[in-house]
Amino acid sequence: MARPSSVFFILFLHAVLNISTSSCGSRSKHPTKHHVHVHARSLFIFGDSFLDAGNNNYINTTTLDQANFWPYGETFFKFPTGRFSDGRLVSDFIAEYAKLSLIPPFLQPGNPHYLNGVNFASAGAGALVETFQGSVVDLRTQLNYYKTVVTWLRRKLGKVEAKMTLSRAVYLFSIGSNDYTSLFLTNSTLLNTYSKSEYVGIVIGNLTTIIKDIHKRGGRKFGFINLPALGCLPGIRIINPDNKGGCLEEASLLAKLHNRALYNLLRELEKQLKEFKYSVFNLNIHLRQRMNHPLKYGFKEGKGACCGTGQLRGVYSCGGKRLVKEFQVCENPKEYVFWDSYHLTERAYKQLADEMWSGESITNSMGSYNLRDLFQNL
Ligand SMILES: *[C@@H]1O[C@H](CO)[C@@H](O)[C@H](O)[C@H]1NC(C)=O
Ligand SMILES: *[C@@H]1O[C@H](CO)[C@@H](O)[C@H](O)[C@H]1NC(C)=O
Ligand SMILES: *[C@@H]1O[C@H](CO)[C@@H](O)[C@H](O)[C@H]1NC(C)=O
Repeated sequence: MARPSSVFFILFLHAVLNISTSSCGSRSKHPTKHHVHVHARSLFIFGDSFLDAGNNNYINTTTLDQANFWPYGETFFKFPTGRFSDGRLVSDFIAEYAKLSLIPPFLQPGNPHYLNGVNFASAGAGALVETFQGSVVDLRTQLNYYKTVVTWLRRKLGKVEAKMTLSRAVYLFSIGSNDYTSLFLTNSTLLNTYSKSEYVGIVIGNLTTIIKDIHKRGGRKFGFINLPALGCLPGIRIINPDNKGGCLEEASLLAKLHNRALYNLLRELEKQLKEFKYSVFNLNIHLRQRMNHPLKYGFKEGKGACCGTGQLRGVYSCGGKRLVKEFQVCENPKEYVFWDSYHLTERAYKQLADEMWSGESITNSMGSYNLRDLFQNL
């Protein structure tokens, strides 16, 4: 099932390369480094399944964190690309609004082309190496992949233009959810060793290292997505010992602590790092509104998933290729906020992307810009 998506992306990449080659060719018969057009903007994507466009298709260890099988992708792409949704993700809409082509997954085989950016995100990944270790590309490895791209850009554009490209690029992050949900989904003993706030400190500490490293290599504009009420994801609700499908408050509390620490970190980095600009999207609020008032946003169901099995279809079985094989899928994903036990439908992602792109900027220091500002106005 990995094949159709590979073929699609290889064709897609060739299309992109042909276009850029021919447009260069029309400008100059002998393009040199200096004739290479510097794209106005590019988008580098880091993190987890919220943004993974198919990197995990190339992980050989396990299919647990893969989504390259039916009915994933059924709505928009009409085939499973590896995205954890019925269609496009937030990052696909953001790329569109920024007038970029779809940003390909880094692990996608084929001729690399990184002028528009690339996607390093990996479903299941956390800021900590230990989070779902062995079945994901952790954030540190994502950073190492980014370093190879920096080298590629320097070779392609020369040092000066590469630096300009990297400093004009937007770096989009969705990370942290798995560091906390894994505590509940595996037999983790970490919360016996650390207090909640200590553990949050370790997660944020590792994220800080990554941000600083990207900044050191020229990155200036960062977009973050805060953590949703993790205890209210269908897959977490069903492990609530209350057995009634209520939110697991302990998980949501970790998300709340993380979000607070993230805001503090960003305010600090704004002081410390030269030209550091950031945007934080308040996913926590925007998703909560849709879970609690689905009708107001055009949905029929805000709590249960479209695809899965058991209570709230919260069992992580969508597609039947994981531990539990049984699953049901709803008729019309548009009626649901949640596509599977942990992920949203394309419709929900589009609404969130619209907010993230042009929504009201929070004018206090908790992220003064929306993504459109980062791409167009700074
Ligand atoms: C997966 O396996 C293929 C073939 O064995 C190998 O070429 C590739 O590097 C592996 N991918 C990863 C991410 O380990
Ligand atoms: C956790 O441990 C219990 C008892 O050892 C075992 O039955 C269960 O499968 C484990 N769960 C996971 C997710 O590893
Ligand atoms: C990063 O995480 C590791 C555990 O994976 C921890 O030992 C280390 O202290 C963390 N680093 C920072 C700077 O917090």
